[in-house]
Amino acid sequence: MSRGRCNRNGDHVADLLITNARPYGEDATDLLVRDGVVTEIGNDLPAVEGVEVLDADGAVLLPGFVDLHTHLREPGGEESETVETGSRAAARGGYTAVFAMPNTDPVADTAVVVEHVRRRGEEVGLVDVHPVGAVTVGLEGVKMAELGTMAKSRAGVRMFSDDGRCVHDPVIMRRALEYASALDVVIAQHAEDHRLTVGAQAHEGVVASRLGLTGWPATAEETIVARDCALAREAGAKLHVCHVSSARTIEVLRAAKAQGVRVSAEVTPHHLLLTDAALSGYDPVHKVNPPLRTGEDTKAMRAALAEGVIDVVGTDHAPHAAQYKDTEWAAARPGMLGLETALSVVVHTMVEPGLLDWRGVARVLSERPAEIAGLPDQGRPIAVGEPATFALVDPDAVWTVRGAALASRASNTPFEGMRLPAAVAATVLRGRVTARSGAVAPIGAARNGSVAEGKAQV
Ligand code: DOR
Ligand code: ZN
Repeated sequence: MSRGRCNRNGDHVADLLITNARPYGEDATDLLVRDGVVTEIGNDLPAVEGVEVLDADGAVLLPGFVDLHTHLREPGGEESETVETGSRAAARGGYTAVFAMPNTDPVADTAVVVEHVRRRGEEVGLVDVHPVGAVTVGLEGVKMAELGTMAKSRAGVRMFSDDGRCVHDPVIMRRALEYASALDVVIAQHAEDHRLTVGAQAHEGVVASRLGLTGWPATAEETIVARDCALAREAGAKLHVCHVSSARTIEVLRAAKAQGVRVSAEVTPHHLLLTDAALSGYDPVHKVNPPLRTGEDTKAMRAALAEGVIDVVGTDHAPHAAQYKDTEWAAARPGMLGLETALSVVVHTMVEPGLLDWRGVARVLSERPAEIAGLPDQGRPIAVGEPATFALVDPDAVWTVRGAALASRASNTPFEGMRLPAAVAATVLRGRVTARSGAVAPIGAARNGSVAEGKAQV
């Protein structure tokens, strides 16, 4: 029996007692949560009547993960993902907030569309869905969208991007950064000089040559990042570099940061783990933009993430229905699922080799992304008085990735069949359990009158 209460957001929540959890992998403790807020931390807290008990069984307790780069596909791409299926995938992956990219149909370039996405996220209620607004109308790179209107709308847009495409025109990028500075929002750039990537299908290198695929040179990323850092410095604006893929880009970021440019950067799980060697079977599940690069690049990505030159892991979760992926290489859409495998890939590539400890995982998956986007109630310390917004991680789990079993509506995981370490045991958003042992609690589904687990019906 739950004692009915509402938290600050009006969500109906029971009090929650989390037992035997290890904050940041440290000593085990219990946490009592009331009205979505941690009220007590200590050993052997009593389970008073009406309190829901979540036995963490020694799992690692981290602040809920925040993804600055998610494609939810709604509106217009519901055959690949919806706000509901994407939110479910996010909760299962330990995420409590995601930023939904605007390359939908219609494009999220007006207050009406961003407010719709935000509202759908609230209706589903499994994760905070923050719409990203487009920088240019229709992502066409020609006319700037109304950033101020979107920022001031009910959606409260904090990040703008033409992701999928680069804001290529330096005049528009400069103006967008000036607006961003005035509005105190972030411009997230998909750094790709399109003039250098015409027809590109794979990283420009020996693998692409052997396979006969047109190359995407690393310089197409590096040069845009260098240009944008100069423009951001001039505008005093916050620039976020999406999915850094090339070792050379890291050196540009390092120099810009040393000069005080307000630039942050993300790396995807797939660019931490996979290389273009995966392309030899021509399976389009490995097609992504920017492309998988070399072992030298993945090594540099890991080192830069450990050092902080790359601030965060952003999934670039890019679901595509089978009809867009199960095609010949050139026709396939670029993109890979990421939300449900990100934690495991980070543990495999960063924790196991000793590059990050659990505090470091909290930093790259939660604290820094929340800080970059300016979210006041995510990425918070695990402490009394703070929101009960958590990911509980079983560090000893080992699991085999199966795209068909993921909660995402699509199945295009590049990690199919891989055995990966660590699993999300539960996710808690302001005191509500939104996912548990791989299966999402039916909070959102109950509101919609149906309980669905795993793949949703199309
Ligand atoms: O691989 C990608 N897929 N890269 C992008 O920039 C866009 C994304 C998508 O929307 O599918
Ligand atoms: Zn992109």
